[in-house]
Amino acid sequence: MKPKTRTGLPGMSVDDIHRTHYSDQIQDSIVGEEISIAGWIEDVRDIGKVAFLTVRDIRGAAQVILSNETLKKAIDTPRQSAVIVSGVVQHSKSKDFPLELKAGKIAIVGEAVHPLPIDPTGRVESSLDKRLDSRALDLRNPKTSSIFLLRSKVLDNIRMTLRSEGFVEVNTPKIIGSASEGGANLFAFEYFKKQAYLAQSPQLYKEQLVLALDRVFEIAAYFRAENSNTVRHLTEFLSVDIEAAFINYEDAMDLAEEVIKNVFRLQMADRKDSDALNDLSKIPIPDSIDRLTYEDCVEELCKEGEKLEFGDDFTDASLRTLGKLHNGFYFIKDWPLELKPFYIHEKEDNLKLTQSFDLQYGYLELISGGQRQHNPLKLRKRLIEQGLNPANFDRHLEVFGWGMPPHSGWGLGFDRLMMVLTHSDNIRNTVMYPRDPDRLMP
Ligand code: 4AD
Ligand code: MG
Repeated sequence: MKPKTRTGLPGMSVDDIHRTHYSDQIQDSIVGEEISIAGWIEDVRDIGKVAFLTVRDIRGAAQVILSNETLKKAIDTPRQSAVIVSGVVQHSKSKDFPLELKAGKIAIVGEAVHPLPIDPTGRVESSLDKRLDSRALDLRNPKTSSIFLLRSKVLDNIRMTLRSEGFVEVNTPKIIGSASEGGANLFAFEYFKKQAYLAQSPQLYKEQLVLALDRVFEIAAYFRAENSNTVRHLTEFLSVDIEAAFINYEDAMDLAEEVIKNVFRLQMADRKDSDALNDLSKIPIPDSIDRLTYEDCVEELCKEGEKLEFGDDFTDASLRTLGKLHNGFYFIKDWPLELKPFYIHEKEDNLKLTQSFDLQYGYLELISGGQRQHNPLKLRKRLIEQGLNPANFDRHLEVFGWGMPPHSGWGLGFDRLMMVLTHSDNIRNTVMYPRDPDRLMP
């Protein structure tokens, strides 16, 4: 049976659906041409003889003029219904739209309920929680969608940078048999009568892969049972990970800098087009990123009146103080051994320190990285020191006897980078369907 259009409207059937133009393609050069647009009714305005519809698509909005009684019936359609309109492009007297589409046919192809749970035009504001409950609809708001259009471009840009540096994109398992970042924060589940975990990071696999592929990167979601509700932690987050043979941790920091700078160049070029980006001129593109040591930071914090000793981790408050002292991006390197995971390499000239770094943006940690321990005996010792059972890592440790080169890498919390790029104070804004201890739906 042929699908029917809404009764009472001069129709096109769903079979006729064929968009010829997006809203931003309605330009002077096509005045007089018959075209079809497709989108969602945002506004209706009835001024008597004629009525107007604003139809929004992903690229913007178009004005449609309904110039006879039959066509005008379309204004009774609930807002945010999906429509396809065909007609002729003409000049318009409207201030907002220099051109408009004089409708010849209109098909209501997906009717919206009324009232909707949130207003996707953003005129009536809703809390973030309510918006997340109706995320697909929230994404019709250009302010929201621009964050995700940017997200997609930034991912492309990072892939381009890493490929140009000789990195190969890989995919490692997310169902794993032993912890990659130590015992805490693991999601465990039964796997055919065995215990399995969701990967906290690709750490062990990416290290193994440099043995054959030299330079690898992975962009994937990881899982951590962070039972705290903060604005920067999710239980599922996207990470950009790199690992490379025969490079040291300074080289790894250089690579992080290059990735960040290229993202900023992209975003500068892009920001005029995008609501979410309009403010970005306030973020300076870093020329080069300062590399402070952990001990520099302890000293700075003590000067600010904090009581800190070597070996203490930085609390949220300490990081906020450091963020005020160092605007924008900065590295904190050479962390104490006890503050870093088992796989990090100690410094040759001071065994209490490691060849490790974090990249910060203000108070926010974006990246952790470093040189890895590639000596299997020392690695086994470090596992024991950290209270892990080396027997659980046998299959990993044996790889280190197969000609493991020195290697370094890092992991970038991509959702946090998006927070920086979009001036967002909550990571949930930058993730389509965030997961935290309270939120499992939608
Ligand atoms: O600092 P992390 O735990 O480091 C690693 O996973 C190492 N394997 C990286 C390496 O190559 N040495 O995580 C890396 C980054 C953090 O800096 C943070 O930006 C992000 O991942 N991250 C989270 N983002 C959101 N929610 C969470 N629960 C996160 N946990 C880590
Ligand atoms: Mg870290």
